[in-house]
Amino acid sequence: MSTIKKHKGLDNTLKVMKEGYLYTTNQRRRLGSENIFETRVLGGKRAVIISGKKAAELFYDNDKTERSGTLPKRLVNTLFGKGAIHTTTGKKHVDRKALFMSLMTEGNLKHLRELTRNHWYMNTHRMEQMDQINIYRESIILLTKVGTKWAGVQAPEEKIEEIATDMDIMIDSFKGLGTAYKGYKASVAARRRVEDWLEDQIIQTRKGKIFPPEGTALYEFAHWEDYKGNPMDSRLCAIDLMNTFRPLIAINRFVSFGLLAMHEHPISKEKIKNEPDYAYMFSQEVRRFYPFVPFLPGKAKTDIQFEGHEIEKDTMLVLDIYGTMHRDDVFENADEFYPERFRDWDGSPFDLIPQGGGDYYTNHRCAGEWMTIIIMEETMKYFADRITYDVPEQDLTVDLNSIPGYIKSGFVIENVQENV
Ligand code: HEM
Repeated sequence: MSTIKKHKGLDNTLKVMKEGYLYTTNQRRRLGSENIFETRVLGGKRAVIISGKKAAELFYDNDKTERSGTLPKRLVNTLFGKGAIHTTTGKKHVDRKALFMSLMTEGNLKHLRELTRNHWYMNTHRMEQMDQINIYRESIILLTKVGTKWAGVQAPEEKIEEIATDMDIMIDSFKGLGTAYKGYKASVAARRRVEDWLEDQIIQTRKGKIFPPEGTALYEFAHWEDYKGNPMDSRLCAIDLMNTFRPLIAINRFVSFGLLAMHEHPISKEKIKNEPDYAYMFSQEVRRFYPFVPFLPGKAKTDIQFEGHEIEKDTMLVLDIYGTMHRDDVFENADEFYPERFRDWDGSPFDLIPQGGGDYYTNHRCAGEWMTIIIMEETMKYFADRITYDVPEQDLTVDLNSIPGYIKSGFVIENVQENV
């Protein structure tokens, strides 16, 4: 067994924050160790970073990698919520995950597609009247409407901006990666407001005072019983109900990246218009190419071996998400934006992993991946085909050294006109 190469230092958290999405790739190259290296983070804890397709297979092997108890506590308090599905394991996880996945019916997904298409279409007049539209902001508001409607949650028009802002603050909290950062208190406060609002609707639904349609997230979560026959505590229920549509609202980041890609590759607009499968391939490539989730934490469940290295039980394991999708041995010419690569893609659960990998039902892989693709497809088709617009001079930099990834300007458009 050979020793694992080390990025030396007592605590490299600040270096991780400084190099952002490029940290893992930079260190792998510097150390000459493509698939594995060791570092110290979060107060000096030893962490083994693993990268590549084989690494993803190991990470999603429930016999080898443990996930519960590995998310930084501060991120649980802001982004996911205490007791959220992300923090569960074993039977409890599989049981609750089945509830999330039961929402992904053909009917619910078709409804989501229609909601997305209609909301963008209905938003055209408003955008035509505006001097400039910041797509990051415009899409977070629109997706808040789509997400709350889809989940069956009551969200009056005058509350939408406030909910969208609270969601944005929570989503942004992964900028702290679990360390002290100045937005922490604001994220906790935003979470409390949204949890209060949703808990009230759970209680009202259970009492029969409001009637969300059967099949919606609010209805199904409020009435669900776990494998022991117990309903979810109303606060926990609010937390996981939020986990059905807060991440949906986060798709605003992929939307702005998608428009940037269309702007930089104008031919793709024509292809989205004219080739039936192109919006799908384009959406997959946006999810692969642009920076969102940098890496995911876990720990070795037992002593395990990876590529000739021994990793002792309880060692922190970190899966290199962004770096894996940018390796040439995983995706050919990985640093090129090339949607056609998904024409003959084999659908492997271990290479396109922007929302985690493995199995939807037994691993922590994102429950909303199909929803994300649907929203992206419809949104990209709308911007390619239903309207024309100009892209004024602005700062379109995507700084890979900063987590979370953004387009500096948010992506601004103007002179919107409906195609007739
Ligand atoms: C889990 C990313 C959209 C619901 C995850 C994970 C990631 C992720 C990285 C963790 C995977 C792991 O731990 O192995 C994203 C991104 C999204 C997105 C980048 C789009 C911007 C959605 C949507 C939903 C959703 C639309 C709506 C249902 C969930 C849930 C989990 C999860 C419930 C926890 C699954 C579990 O613990 O088993 N997501 N997601 N996500 N996502 Fe998403």
